Amino acid sequence: METQDNTSSAFEDEYDLDDRYEQLANDAYHRNHGRMVNQVNRTRGSQPSRKEILQNLVEDNDLIEDFVPTYAAKLDPKHFERRWVIGSLSGFWRDKIISDVLYQVKVGKEANVYACEATESSEHDLIAAKLYRPRMLRHLRNDAAYKIGRLSHDREGKKMKQSSRAQRALKKKTKFGQDLDFSNWVGHEYRMQTELWEAGADVPQPIAHSGTTILMAFCGNRSIAAATLNDVILESAEAQPLFDKVIDNVRLMLSLNQVHGDLSAYNILYWQGEVTIIDFPQMVNAAGNPNSERFLRRDIQRVVDYFSQYGVKADGGEIAQTLWKDFMNAQL
Ligand SMILES: Nc1ncnc2c1ncn2[C@@H]1O[C@H](COP(=O)(O)OP(=O)(O)OP(=O)(O)O)[C@@H](O)[C@H]1O
Ligand SMILES: [Mg+2]
Repeated sequence: METQDNTSSAFEDEYDLDDRYEQLANDAYHRNHGRMVNQVNRTRGSQPSRKEILQNLVEDNDLIEDFVPTYAAKLDPKHFERRWVIGSLSGFWRDKIISDVLYQVKVGKEANVYACEATESSEHDLIAAKLYRPRMLRHLRNDAAYKIGRLSHDREGKKMKQSSRAQRALKKKTKFGQDLDFSNWVGHEYRMQTELWEAGADVPQPIAHSGTTILMAFCGNRSIAAATLNDVILESAEAQPLFDKVIDNVRLMLSLNQVHGDLSAYNILYWQGEVTIIDFPQMVNAAGNPNSERFLRRDIQRVVDYFSQYGVKADGGEIAQTLWKDFMNAQL
C-alpha cells in the first residue's frame, strides 16, 4: 500500500489511500485481465486472485517507471497527480500513441485534461488526454435523468442483454456494477464523440480510450490550449456565423437522435476563429428519453444567451421548437 505524501495539492482533498490503491488495482486488473487469461488458461469469466492483482501491480509499476513525461517530471515523485498521470497514460505511451505529456490544460469538474505530444507516425501533432478523477466516477452526478433510453455496454463496449450478470450487477449497484457504470459513462462519451465526428460535427476527433481516460485531437498549440467561448472576446462580425455553426451542430446531433445535454459557452472551444464542441458524457437519447426536449431547450437557450451580448438576435424557444418539430416529423 502507498504512503501518504506531504505535497499539498488541489487533489489531496479528493483522494485517500484506499482510492489510490483501488485505482491502481483497478487499472492493473483491466490492463492485465486479458493477458492473464491467456497465460494461465483461466476459464472465462473467473476473476484473478488478490495475489495475482498485487503481482501485476508490481509489474505495472516497474513498467510505469520507464515513462516520466515532461509534465510529470516537474512534480515531486510522491505527488499523487504525477503517479496518476503516469499510471493513466503509460499504456498509450507503450502503444506508441503519445510520446510525452507537455502540460496540464485544466482541472475540470469531473476530469483533468492534459496536452500530450503525439508520436511521429500519428496524423496529429498534439493529443488531448481527458482523465476522469476516480472519486468523481464513484460519485457520478445525478445522472439518472440523462441515462434513460441508453443501452448498457459491457467492458468491451458490447451491448448487454437484459438478463446478463452485468445488468443485474448494475441494477443492484454492487462493486462490480459500479465499476461497470463508470466505464459505461466514459465509454458512452467516447462512442457519442465518435458518432458525431464521423457525421461531420465540429467535435475533436476521438483517438483512443481505456479505463477512465479518453484521448482526442487537441485544440491549441504546444504552449497554449484553446480557450472556452466564455473566456474569449469575439469580433462582432464573427458572432453570427459562429452562432449559426453551433445551432447547425445541435441540428446535426438531433438528426443522430442525440441532445448534448450540457451545451454552453463553457463546453465550446474557440481556436483560430473556429468553434469546437466538447464534453459528451451526459448526451441524451432524443427519442428514448422523455427529458430530451427540455435539455434541448436549455442547451439552445444558453447558446442564445451567450451570443446575445454580441448583438445576435434569436429566440431560443422558437429555435428549439422548430428543431424539435423537424426531429419529430423525421421520426414518422
Ligand atoms: N480537445 C481538447 N483540446 C483542448 N482543450 C480541451 C479539449 N478537451 C477539453 N479541453 C479543456 O479541458 C476542459 C475540461 O474538459 P471537459 O469540459 O471535457 O471536462 P469537464 O470535467 O466537464 O470540465 P468542466 O467542468 O470544465 O466542464 C475544457 O474546458 C477545455 O478547457
Ligand atoms: Mg466541460
